[in-house]
Amino acid sequence: MSEAVVQTDRATVGLIRAAFSLGNYHQIMNDLYEEVFGEPQMVHFPYYGSPTDTLLDGQANLTDACLEFFPDLSDQRLLEVGCGNGVQSMYVLANHRPRHVTGMDLNPNNVALAGRIAADKGLSNIDFIASDAQDMQGIPDGAFDAVLNVESAFHYPDKPAFLNEVHRVLKPGGRFVMADLLMKPNRRSPLLRMWERRLSQHYWFADSYRTAFADAGLKIDAERDITAPVLRGFRERSAWFRNHKIRGALRRAHIMLFVRAQVFRHVYYLQNICSYHIFSAVKAG
Ligand SMILES: C[S@@+](CC[C@H](N)C(=O)[O-])C[C@H]1O[C@@H](n2cnc3c(N)ncnc32)[C@H](O)[C@@H]1O
Repeated sequence: MSEAVVQTDRATVGLIRAAFSLGNYHQIMNDLYEEVFGEPQMVHFPYYGSPTDTLLDGQANLTDACLEFFPDLSDQRLLEVGCGNGVQSMYVLANHRPRHVTGMDLNPNNVALAGRIAADKGLSNIDFIASDAQDMQGIPDGAFDAVLNVESAFHYPDKPAFLNEVHRVLKPGGRFVMADLLMKPNRRSPLLRMWERRLSQHYWFADSYRTAFADAGLKIDAERDITAPVLRGFRERSAWFRNHKIRGALRRAHIMLFVRAQVFRHVYYLQNICSYHIFSAVKAG
């Protein structure tokens, strides 16, 4: 069997595995980014900035949109909850210069990968730990000035436990910024709900979040609906891979099929099932 056919089979199997397990999905995304861009990349939605944005520009725009809510991170200790492969934590360290960043994720493979990337880059002032957002073991009370959480909270079944933990690990006066997919009032088929459970997708209504923030002692002082720029980020994707050539016509076709399937899924959700919000909140001093 030729190498191209073997690769094609692997890609097809990968596409199916990615659709049915969160761990597989992240493994495949990390591998895919490494293949296309030469190294792992942030794993979140693109936010439209300009028609010449690559996928990576769009993703950085989303991080920047979240970081606008932190007035000044210099001299602050920041915790990123659900940091994935750590690339976003490293981006924040490089571009927004907090004193120290800790990235935390439930998936130990992601945490190990993040540690390896940071070591390869020779980064100091950053570390990564494996822990659960709903029970942040290993993180002392009041250890952080700032907590960031991007596109991860919809995976947590117990949001009040998560928000109580954010409150616990923040210093008084500390800020929490969360970007998350929120459920719109809608009716979904039981089949779609079953599939969401498989992928650990537990969307919440905006009002449930607002109540739970208040109950946890986190006062929301800003909220932004970014559904429109994120949808536009998906729609205007002509320049996504402009700086990157994927080797092999068959492999390219497969990767593009995977990308199309992902884009279709996310656009369908953003149009019919979810909105995308940023919440910014402060722990009472
Ligand atoms: C879409 S990725 C986002 C990664 C990163 N925040 C970024 O923007 O590049 C979601 C991450 O949430 C993590 N996650 C899911 N459930 C978690 C939990 N209970 N505690 C901590 N992390 C969790 C997943 O392992 C995954 O790495």
